[in-house]
Amino acid sequence: MARKIVVTSGKGGVGKTTVLANLGIRIAQCGKRVCMIDADVGLNNLDMVTACESLVVYDLADCIEGRCRPKQALIQTRISKNAYVLPSFHSLSGTEISFERFSDLVEGLSASFDVILIDCPAGIGESFRRAVYSADEALLVATPHLSSVRDADKVLANLRGMKMESVKLVINRVRGDLVVSGRTLSPEDVEKTLKCRMAGIIPDDDSVFLCNAGEIPPESPSFKAFKILAHNVVTNKYRTFDYAKNYKGFFGSIRRGIKRSI
Ligand SMILES: Nc1ncnc2c1ncn2[C@@H]1O[C@H](COP(=O)(O)OP(=O)(O)OP(=O)(O)O)[C@@H](O)[C@H]1O
Ligand SMILES: [Mg+2]
Repeated sequence: MARKIVVTSGKGGVGKTTVLANLGIRIAQCGKRVCMIDADVGLNNLDMVTACESLVVYDLADCIEGRCRPKQALIQTRISKNAYVLPSFHSLSGTEISFERFSDLVEGLSASFDVILIDCPAGIGESFRRAVYSADEALLVATPHLSSVRDADKVLANLRGMKMESVKLVINRVRGDLVVSGRTLSPEDVEKTLKCRMAGIIPDDDSVFLCNAGEIPPESPSFKAFKILAHNVVTNKYRTFDYAKNYKGFFGSIRRGIKRSI
C-alpha cells in the first residue's frame, strides 16, 4: 500500500505545488511509483507544473461522479514513466466531493503506487480538511517570512488536532545570502519556532521558477536540494542541504555583495 502524504501550507503561494511536483518526480526517478493528486479544486495547476495540461482527458470530477475509473484519469508524466498526475476539475464543476468519496478514491489508488502525494489548497478550509482526512502524513511548506511562519503554525495546530501521524516541514525559497548576513529567518529558526521537524530546505532559485517540475538543471542548487528532500522523505532520515555554502568566507561575502547589488 502507498504512503499517502498531503502537501499543505498556511499562506498561499509559498510553493506547495512546485515542491510536490519536483519531489514526486524525483522519487519516481528513484524507481518508486508515484501518484500526484491535485486536490486544489479552486486554483488547480499541478497539470501545468508537470507539463501535462494538454493530455487531460478525465479529471477528479469525472472520477468522483463515476464517468471514468480513477486509473483512466491518470496521466503519465513525460519526464518519468513512474510518475502520474490525477488532475483536478477542468471546467467549473458543481461536483461536491465528500470526505469519504475522496478518501475512497485515494485508497483505491493506493494498491498501485508506492507514494501518493496530495496537493492541497492553502489554509484550513474544507478542501484542506478533506485532503488531510485521506492522508497519513503531511509535509507543511513554509517560507522564511514571519507571515508564512505564523500561518504555518495555525495549520500545524489543525494537523495535530486532526491526529495526523507525521508532520514535517519543508522550508522553501531560502536565501542563503540573506540568512548569512542575518537579514532573514534561517530554516533552523523556523523549525525551532514551529517545534516541527524538517524534511528539507529548498533555496530560492530562478531555475525552479523557470523550469517544469523534474526539468531543473543538475547544476542548479535546487536540483541538489530536491534530491536531498526526496531522500529524506523516502528514508525518513534527515540529511541537510547546505543553503549557506556559497555565501560564507571571503568569496561568499563578495557573492552576497553581488546579490545585493542586482
Ligand atoms: N524555491 C523556489 N524558487 C523560486 N521560485 C519558486 C520556488 N518555489 C516556488 N516558486 C515559484 O513561486 C510561485 C508559486 O509557487 P506554487 O504555485 O507552487 O505555490 P502554491 O503554494 O502551490 O500556491 P497556491 O497556494 O496558490 O496553491 C511559482 O511561480 C513558483 O515557480
Ligand atoms: Mg498550488
